[in-house]
Amino acid sequence: MFEELAEKARITLQDKYSLRDLVVEWRRPQEKAQGDAATTIALKLAKNLKKKPQEVAQVLCDALQKSPGVEKAEVAGAGYVNVWLTPEALIRELSITEEACSPRPASKGKGPVIIDYSQPNIAKPLGVHHILSTVVGQCLCNLHRHLGYEVVGWNYIGDWGTQFGKLAVAWEKWGKGKPVSEYSLDELLELYVRFHAEAEKDKTLDDAARAAFLKLEQGDKNLRSFWEGVVKVTKASLAAIYERLHVRFDTDIGESFYEDKMQPILEEGRKKKVFVEGEEGSLIVTFKDEEKLPPFLVQKGDGATLYATRDLAQIRYRIDTFHPQAILYVVDVAQQLYFQQLFKTVSRLDWKLPLLEHVVFGRMRFADQAMSTRKGTVLKLEHVLDEAVSRAQEAITAHRDSIQTDDEASLAEMMGTGALVYGILSQNRKMDLIFDWEKVLSLDGNSAPYLQYTHARACSVLRKAETNDFALPQKSQALTDRERSLIGTLLTFPAVLEDARAQRMPHTLANYLYALCQEFNSFYNSEPILKAEERQRTLRLSLTSLAARVLKTGAELLTLRVPERM
Ligand code: ARG
Repeated sequence: MFEELAEKARITLQDKYSLRDLVVEWRRPQEKAQGDAATTIALKLAKNLKKKPQEVAQVLCDALQKSPGVEKAEVAGAGYVNVWLTPEALIRELSITEEACSPRPASKGKGPVIIDYSQPNIAKPLGVHHILSTVVGQCLCNLHRHLGYEVVGWNYIGDWGTQFGKLAVAWEKWGKGKPVSEYSLDELLELYVRFHAEAEKDKTLDDAARAAFLKLEQGDKNLRSFWEGVVKVTKASLAAIYERLHVRFDTDIGESFYEDKMQPILEEGRKKKVFVEGEEGSLIVTFKDEEKLPPFLVQKGDGATLYATRDLAQIRYRIDTFHPQAILYVVDVAQQLYFQQLFKTVSRLDWKLPLLEHVVFGRMRFADQAMSTRKGTVLKLEHVLDEAVSRAQEAITAHRDSIQTDDEASLAEMMGTGALVYGILSQNRKMDLIFDWEKVLSLDGNSAPYLQYTHARACSVLRKAETNDFALPQKSQALTDRERSLIGTLLTFPAVLEDARAQRMPHTLANYLYALCQEFNSFYNSEPILKAEERQRTLRLSLTSLAARVLKTGAELLTLRVPERM
C-alpha cells in the first residue's frame, strides 16, 4: 500500500509540475492524529517550484483523496500531507508484517556479512562483560540472516599469546603431573592466578614463560599438546554457556590460526612502505597529523608478532576465503582507537576491502553495588546466569496465583536468561549500560518477563478460540480506535527490523516489542475478543495471532525464547 501511495504521489506531482525521477517517501507518523502515512515531499519541492508548500500539498491531497484505499488525505501545518487508509487497505497491508515473520531466503551474490563477536580469551572462564559482545553479535547475526543476508558468525577466540607460556610454566611447577585434559577451567584459572602471585616474588618466572611461549611457537611437541588440551577444556566449558544463551557460531577460528599467515603481510607492508622501521627494529605504521592517530605497532623489535599482526592476516584471509560484503567487529569501546588504526592501515595497503565496521558497546555496571565491587576477581558469566535464573524462580513463586506452568524449571531458565539478555539488548549499546535486577525481572516493565507474559497471554486467547484459522479477513468493516492503533504498531514491524539491522541497534527492536506489548495489552483489556460478534471476532483473533507471531519472531531475533503458557 505504501508503495502504491508513493507511486500515485510520484505520478501526480511529476505530471503537474513537469518533474522527472521524483522519489516520494512515506513514513508512519508517531502521532495517531497524523494518520497512517505522512510525507514531507511538498515542503521539499516547494522552494524549487517557487510555490507555497501548502499549495503543492493540496494538489497531492486532491489526487490521493480519490485513490482506492485512501479514506482521507489532509494538508497539515506548514505543508505536510497526512493520509488515513481505509480499514480494508490497512488490513491488506498487514500481510507484509506477516511475511516479515518468516526469514527471507538468502540472496547470494554480494558475499556474506562476517560478524566477529564474543571472542573470549582461552584458559579463562567467561566474565560477565563477555555477554555484551556475545548477545549483541548474535542478535546482529540473527537479524541479517532473517533479512536474507548470508552470514558468517565468527567467534574469534584469543587462543594465542604469552599467557600460554605462563600457564605452561605454572602447570609444570605446580600441576602435580595431572594431565591437562583432567583440568577444569577453574583449576586452570587457579594456576594462572598462582603464576602471577609467584611472579611478583620470583622474577625468573616471567622469563621462563616467555621462553616457553617461544618454544610453543617453534612447534615443541609437548607444549603443543599442552596447548591443545587447554583449548579443548576451555571450548567445552564455553559450549555449555553458549547453548544456554542460544548463541551459535559458524566458525571459531581463533588467533593461533594466523601464525603462518603473518610473514607475507609484513613483507607486503614493508615493500609498499606502509610499515616502516620504528624504535629498536620494530615495524610501525605512522599516520598523517590530521588523522590524529598514534603510530600502530605491527611487529616488535625482537620479531614477535602481535594482536594487530594477527588481525591484519585475519582480514586478508577473510577476504580471500569468503569475499564478504562487510566485516563487523563487535568489540568493547576500549578498542576504538585500535580499530581506527587497523582499518586505516589496511586501506593504505591498497587491498580491495569490504565494509569494515567496529560495532562498539559501552561498559556494564550493576545497580547492585555488591555485584560491581567484588575486587580483583572477575564476576563469572555462569554465576550471573545462575543468579538470574534463581531470581526468576523466586518471582514465579511469588506470583504463583497468576503464573501457570507445568514446567517451572524451564520457565525459570527462560525467564532468567531472557531477563539478563534483554536487560542488555534493550539499552542503547553505545552508552554505558546500567544493569538492575529489579528492572530486568519485573513482570510489567520493559523487560523479558513482560514480553514473555504478553506472548503467553495472546497464545492463551488463541487456544480458547475453537479454530486455528486466523487468516486476516478480506471484507471491510469499521475499526475501533484500539484496533486501528494495534494495526498501526504491527505495520511498522518490517521497517523496525530493517532499521535495527542497518543501524546495528538491537535496542530499536527491543523497544518496539515493548511498545507492541503495551498496545496489545490495552487492546486485550478493553476489547472483547472471544465474545465479540462474528466479524469482529475474526479480525480480533487474527490480530492477536499476528501480534503473537511478531512478539515471538522479534524475541527470537534478540536470542530470547517465549513460552506458550505462563
Ligand atoms: N579477544 C579480544 C579481546 O579479548 C577481542 C577480539 C576482537 N576481535 C578482533 N578481530 N580483534 O580483547
